[in-house]
Amino acid sequence: MLTSAHAPLAALENATAFASRHIGPGADDEATMLAAIGPASRRALIEAIVPAAIARTAAMDLPAPATEEQALAELKAIAGKNQRLRSFIGQGYHGTFTPGVILRNILENPAWYTAYTPYQAEISQGRMEALVNFQTMVTDLTGMAIANASMLDEATAAAEAMTLARRSVKAKGHTLVVSGDTHPQIIEVLQTRAKPLGLTIQLANSAEEWTAALAGDDYFAALAQYPASSGWLHDWSADAATVKGKQAAFILAADLLALTVLKSPGEMGADIVLGSTQRFGMPMGAGGPHAAYLACRDEFKRSLPGRLVGISVDSHGNPAYRLALQTREQHIRREKATSNICTAQVLPAVVASMYAVYHGPQGLTRIALRVARYLGILVAGLKQLGVDMSQTHHLDAGAFDTVCLHTGERTAALMARAVSLGANLRSPWPGYLSITLDETTTREDLALLWRIFAAEGQALPSVDELSLTGDLIPPALRRTSAFLTHPVFNSHHSETEMLRYIRKLSDKDLALDRSMIPLGSCTMKLNATSEMIPITWPEFAEVHPFAPADQLAGYAELNAQLCGWLEQATGYAGVSLQPNAGSQGEYAGLLAICAWHASRGEGHRNICLIPESAHGTNPASAMMAGLQVVVVKCDANGSVDLGDLKAKCEQHAANLACIMITYPSTYGVYDLQVKELCAMVHQYGGRVYVDGANMNALVGVAAPGQFGGDVSHLNLHKTFCIPHGGGGPGVGPVCVVEDLVPFLPGHATAGQLREGGVGAVSAAPYGNAAVLPISWMYVRMMGTAGLTAATETAILNANYVAARLADHYDIHFSGNVAGVKGGGVAHECILDLRPLKDSSGVSAEDVAKRLIDYGFHAPTLSFPVAGTLMVEPTESEPLFELDRFCDAMIAIREEIRLVEAGAWPREDNPLKNAPHTAASLLSGEWTHPYSREVAAYPVASLKQVKYWSPVGRVDNVYGDRNLFCSCLPVSAYGDTPA
Ligand SMILES: Cc1ncc(COP(=O)(O)O)c(C=O)c1O
Repeated sequence: MLTSAHAPLAALENATAFASRHIGPGADDEATMLAAIGPASRRALIEAIVPAAIARTAAMDLPAPATEEQALAELKAIAGKNQRLRSFIGQGYHGTFTPGVILRNILENPAWYTAYTPYQAEISQGRMEALVNFQTMVTDLTGMAIANASMLDEATAAAEAMTLARRSVKAKGHTLVVSGDTHPQIIEVLQTRAKPLGLTIQLANSAEEWTAALAGDDYFAALAQYPASSGWLHDWSADAATVKGKQAAFILAADLLALTVLKSPGEMGADIVLGSTQRFGMPMGAGGPHAAYLACRDEFKRSLPGRLVGISVDSHGNPAYRLALQTREQHIRREKATSNICTAQVLPAVVASMYAVYHGPQGLTRIALRVARYLGILVAGLKQLGVDMSQTHHLDAGAFDTVCLHTGERTAALMARAVSLGANLRSPWPGYLSITLDETTTREDLALLWRIFAAEGQALPSVDELSLTGDLIPPALRRTSAFLTHPVFNSHHSETEMLRYIRKLSDKDLALDRSMIPLGSCTMKLNATSEMIPITWPEFAEVHPFAPADQLAGYAELNAQLCGWLEQATGYAGVSLQPNAGSQGEYAGLLAICAWHASRGEGHRNICLIPESAHGTNPASAMMAGLQVVVVKCDANGSVDLGDLKAKCEQHAANLACIMITYPSTYGVYDLQVKELCAMVHQYGGRVYVDGANMNALVGVAAPGQFGGDVSHLNLHKTFCIPHGGGGPGVGPVCVVEDLVPFLPGHATAGQLREGGVGAVSAAPYGNAAVLPISWMYVRMMGTAGLTAATETAILNANYVAARLADHYDIHFSGNVAGVKGGGVAHECILDLRPLKDSSGVSAEDVAKRLIDYGFHAPTLSFPVAGTLMVEPTESEPLFELDRFCDAMIAIREEIRLVEAGAWPREDNPLKNAPHTAASLLSGEWTHPYSREVAAYPVASLKQVKYWSPVGRVDNVYGDRNLFCSCLPVSAYGDTPA
């Protein structure tokens, strides 16, 4: 109906415009859906499904919604409070230019940022090729045998390197020796992570201490930085040999840009190498998101944590990418896991790999040599100015991009003078001052730096006159080995070719910009363009995480507001935005619980109860926090078995630390007795951790902090609209009740100390700070009513799918709610395909792959129950798309009936052979008992627009037996130009 000229002014101003664009179904659609489900209204449906006992009694107190334009203007004003001084701080974060073609076509392109983790290999070939390029880039530059496809940040990568070493070497000690000249945030996170595992960090703060430590026999690994945090260069070969002689591991944190011109860690004998790829095109963004890397020698590869992309073959014998050694995603191993990483940093890893493709080895070397030459010129100029270089930290050993000057009592004054002239320097130790140059450094910057040190009226040196000055890299450390020799790094150097390469890869993939991604537990909802726009604003992007606090006022305001809103949404008293994935939030939350127990003299409490339905990161995080996992049974409805819980509480009463539940449960149901559950655990002295991954079924409707939870993490990359990025970045804020607030993670490196609290869990104080504007925009534009409507619509959409599919598939768990067709589910529903496997031989995986022929990404496969598909439509999907999906699922059920009836053989039917590639349909003789048309166009609408899988079904077993994780030789594709 057209708006009337007499409509109220507020209706014409349309402040809630965004909510109605974010939420898919309109009022008419809602009526159609409710007619299929049963209840008369959306509210009636919610009241029938959400247990009254947990319903919120008061609405969230959020600002009234702003339009997209108003919210952007408000955020721009906040962003403007950040000050962008020229950063010479270094310390792992550097200025970089994101090439425009990468900025617009990857970082700002929904085809890349709305993709999911590449678990469905066939529809993820493009992003996996980019990740194999990333792995190749890292192995080439580090000189190591194998690298994974990204880590959360450099500091957590160091922590993973520590535990990788611990489980891979023969040395029996419990000590990691760490050079004191390592970035302080790395040392801080190592200390946090070592403590619960009973490991000791032994800091060596001088050459003498280092030598003495390595001469000892009680360490399992030694870690150093290359170039060191203060910039000095050292050939670590002899140290690596000493460490190896003790059957321990030698770990280097290395800078990839430096490695283009320096001898590689592999050539020095390193066992494990880690670092950040930030300066390969990802803005500093106040600390993240950036992809860290982890590489190791071949012997350690089966213990390497994180995701690894490998090359296998498809059903037609062609090469195809897929995630290799899937159990290396350690959390799948639950309480046997050695790492809890799930969401990683795929989008930043893709950016970094494309930066290497764009520049190639020549371009990267040119950048590195320019940076190094500028440093040489800077130092020569400082000498010319009469700056005393006699005590400069190890300058005689050589330097790449950083010089560390002894400035004694003048240090504070020089730092202040730098700020007054628009520059940030770093003081790594009292009396010392360091300057780090980067890709963005200009001749003007050199003049600016000289001005800081020059006396009043003193003439500045001339870059022109000093231009013949060499860099400070010692000859013995200059790189001689080749890198990035694969054609992919040597072909796409014109913008036209680069653009087409990026487009070619994204065309191979299915992301949210093409169709619904109904992944249960993943909440693949709209990532609105207005939410994404601010993340590349220079005011947010070009900020160093360790700049003086007053320069980060914009971030401080944004973060404080966002924390306040998240407190409203969850009912908790305090929030830390530091964890950069849900798994890290879990870890931080568990550490808070342990620290709270310890503060009461009950540090012995170490039992963590976890229901059998839990996501794998829950037990994996518990192990990392030093807790012992005890599994609690679930009943036939998928709820926690309170009888078993009581028995376990009693059995472990003296040592009970906590329970970790997910709510609504991972089975997609609201456990009616959750309040009783929380009370029971409290009664035995334990705390309740509520995994907030399913908050999309709660926001505005119920709050974990109000129904008995003590701690939750949120997945902002689910509920609060941060796109999944093909597998990260994420943000996993940890939210706690009042008495746990003192135990939220601190960050000493950033000056945010919490006495007696938990140390840093991420490299940067606000983790993946640069993507927080996305969630800020979402809440700001939705307001209380919009967010509540989103939750209710997510529940409505899931119940609609359940109602439409209930006559065709078994809905595995439901609330058995009277008058609700499908039985009543929360925001997702599980389709049980196990009976069909018996009757037809068709598996849940076959259905998942057949959905690709219909143009859909599969729902979550075999989690939380093997042989099932878990569908989560989210509130953003319109009725049209829900129907398209349900029609596809019903059509697939009919196909299965044909197999059941014997019309198609069990081993040769469109489900078993899915997905069908164009090539397989066009070439050769067609021998299958169904037509090519049935294979490709099972529904007529596909003839207008069709997604073609670039590969047939990928053979996982072959790939794991023949592990290959670098770029394939071009000849392998069979179309090499002559
Ligand atoms: C229930 C649940 N808990 C925890 C996680 C871990 O979150 P992240 O992938 O952000 O580490 C997930 C991820 O899918 C999840 O579904």
